[in-house]
Amino acid sequence: MVQKTGKRWSGRFSAATDEFVEQFTESVSFDRRLYHFDILASVAHANGLAKAGVIAEDERDVIVVGLDQIQEEIEAGSFSWSIVHEDVHTNIENRLVEIVGEVGKKLHAGRSRNDQVATDLRLWLRHHVDQIDAQMTSLLSELAALAERYADAIMPGLTHMQNAQPVTFGHHMMAWFEMLFRDRDRLRECRARVSHSPLGAAALAGTSFPISRESTATELGFEEVCRNSLDAVSDRDFAIEFVFVASMTAVHLSRWCEELVYWSSDLIGFVELPDEFCTGSSIMPQKKNPDVPEIIRGKSGRVLGDLVALLTLVKSQPLAYNRDNQEDKQRLFDAVDTLADCLQILCDLIPQVEPNLERMLEAAGRGYTTATDMADWLVRRGIPFREAHEIVGSVVAEAESRGIELKELSLPELQHFSVRFDEEVFSVLSIEGSVAARKQTGGTSPEAVRTAIAEARTRI
Ligand code: ARG
Repeated sequence: MVQKTGKRWSGRFSAATDEFVEQFTESVSFDRRLYHFDILASVAHANGLAKAGVIAEDERDVIVVGLDQIQEEIEAGSFSWSIVHEDVHTNIENRLVEIVGEVGKKLHAGRSRNDQVATDLRLWLRHHVDQIDAQMTSLLSELAALAERYADAIMPGLTHMQNAQPVTFGHHMMAWFEMLFRDRDRLRECRARVSHSPLGAAALAGTSFPISRESTATELGFEEVCRNSLDAVSDRDFAIEFVFVASMTAVHLSRWCEELVYWSSDLIGFVELPDEFCTGSSIMPQKKNPDVPEIIRGKSGRVLGDLVALLTLVKSQPLAYNRDNQEDKQRLFDAVDTLADCLQILCDLIPQVEPNLERMLEAAGRGYTTATDMADWLVRRGIPFREAHEIVGSVVAEAESRGIELKELSLPELQHFSVRFDEEVFSVLSIEGSVAARKQTGGTSPEAVRTAIAEARTRI
């Protein structure tokens, strides 16, 4: 049978595809990234066809040898991709027929590119989810190590970007740890839903051949079979869910990076970033710019854009497969690549972050950051917290008007605000004392932070 237009679907067509339509509709320029998983799925399908008696065992063997050769050709760079064959699936199938002859034409019985592309994409994504999981795990370890190194280092803790209470640098690093830990949890939950097999759903209605979908799914390492063939070919939730996890992670990374950027500024000077991660200015010779965290901050916009694009792609799509779905791949690939790059560079950067201990300690003392400790002390002397808050507010106003610290007020001066004050209050006004007192679970004391790090290590 001659193919009139050189296409695998040419039977019902009498005219060749318009040249620009061919360019507009092709996906092989980007979906060729799926080739390895397309071949794996084709081998599983060939096994399914042979088990069902649709093709002979020796025909299956010939097909598998042909597919192996194609894999080698692609990896050697000698495979010739062509937009005439639209996508990765047809390019590979076409080459299979060239290599093994007529028997290659038997492979597509009982399947469609619709279940094929959904299967390939899930396999591809699952592979990358596992790689990203490993990167997140390394980054979690680096954060715990950095937190441990600086479990005692005191810095100002902020709310509303104003000095609030002193905290430890280790505690701050462990806050980042918790964000990323939740991201990894979400990734793992998402993986379970990625790992469902659409293979055998065929175009939309399932196949009339007795191919065991359960056995092809098992062969491909899927945990479950998609339960409904219409849903199987149209569902892209798994991709959207991954890109949401990537977006959440990218947003978290943008928050860390924003902190690294302002901490490393001349105004703040809490950290020094290694030269290898910074660049200079073409005009100002003195500049050392925190480009890496800035770019990571910027990359979050891309990933969020990928999420909106994918959600919009699926919005209002009727069942079952629609060609719109071809637009899912570049967005998904971009989210995977962008997140993987950001995680990799942070794994290298985080261990090299050097906090400036004196500068942080000095800043932690500014802004009456132990005022809450003074109020808590009054509470322990029987004064209701609201009243204590009021008293200490007036003490702060007095100290501020005289340009001095709380601890520089004399006892008689303090007693002017409350007769309950005695010498002991001065013991809670040091920032070291303030930090050390917060030793409950999740608190900022070096002791609590060390406990948190030990517990976190068991979760990594
Ligand atoms: N390249 C297509 C995609 O990425 C594959 C499925 C095409 N199916 C079809 N019937 N045209 O979605």
